[in-house]
Amino acid sequence: MVGTLDIALDKVAQSRISEFDENNIQFAKVYSDHMFEAHYRNGHWEDMVIKPYGDLSISPANTTLHYGQSIFEGLKAYKADNGDILVFRPQANAQRMIKSAERMCIPAVSEEMFMSTLNELLKIDSDWVPSKPGTSLYIRPITFGLDPFIGIRPSDEYMFLIFTSPVGGYYSEPISVKVETHYTRAAPGGVGAAKTAGNYAAALYPALQAQKSGYSQLIWTDGLTHEYVEESGTMNIAFIIDDTLVTAPTSDTILHGITRDSVLTLAQDLGINVEERRLSVKELIEGLNSGRVKEAFGIGTAATIAPIKLIGHEGSDYDLPSIDNWEFAPKILKALDEIKTGKVEDKFNWVYRVR
Ligand code: COI
Repeated sequence: MVGTLDIALDKVAQSRISEFDENNIQFAKVYSDHMFEAHYRNGHWEDMVIKPYGDLSISPANTTLHYGQSIFEGLKAYKADNGDILVFRPQANAQRMIKSAERMCIPAVSEEMFMSTLNELLKIDSDWVPSKPGTSLYIRPITFGLDPFIGIRPSDEYMFLIFTSPVGGYYSEPISVKVETHYTRAAPGGVGAAKTAGNYAAALYPALQAQKSGYSQLIWTDGLTHEYVEESGTMNIAFIIDDTLVTAPTSDTILHGITRDSVLTLAQDLGINVEERRLSVKELIEGLNSGRVKEAFGIGTAATIAPIKLIGHEGSDYDLPSIDNWEFAPKILKALDEIKTGKVEDKFNWVYRVR
């Protein structure tokens, strides 16, 4: 048994870590030795175990496979220079997962359970946390319905898993994005703010259409008018207009990004003006034409700060100024990286040290 909870431990006979080449890390190509698993039955979480990472056995009638009753999180752990494992804002992920759970009728994993199980898993797989600049251990908690039942109702039983993967950057180079004004990611009253499977499945087709036209991702606009910028395909999005960082305010159609929140806090701390306000596509295009839009970047856990080099809208492409001349995003990224890796004082109390 490990930790303060009743967690059984079933360790791998032989670690697979030699399969992982720290000099050639791609996003989520290899998974660490162990995963945490718990089952929800009869109103509580039980059968907690840390066991070898591996396939699951699930009924073909599994409710999640058919109806998508599934929520997940994404967070990252870093190796400090002294070898400590630092996790960036895990309590915020636990809290967001509780909100997603409520929206998707899924029993929540408490913050205490989330933190204890994460701590134990990371202790066991600490060797998998890479240390090279730009690398980290991506952590994927997920909860989903388990019932073998194809009627429509919330599942009675659930599984909660945490598994991890050493990663580099999600995007290897600056991206081109297309402003999407036909398809809709999220509508008021819908599930856009929940980190739930269907949001990502629904985005695949529009993203693929954009990719066929040479763009890597979309900029989603609001579902009612398609006149206002909301978020990007895999992340929130922000712009430097003149000397102000502008990003859409969170709402029930926008994911409440933890990296987004961190970037806004750090930008203010660095003395950068921040405006959380609706940004119309018209203002964006005018700003790109006039040169007032100086920088544009995605913000997310996997993507961190992903520079955008080009924005497409209604058949025209608009180049951003050369990234080599950017002033704001690199400064914020540096400040974020230094906190995550324990190089500077953690004055916002964001870092959790595995113990
Ligand atoms: C994350 O940034 O953690 C996400 O969940 C987005 C996904 C595209 C990897």
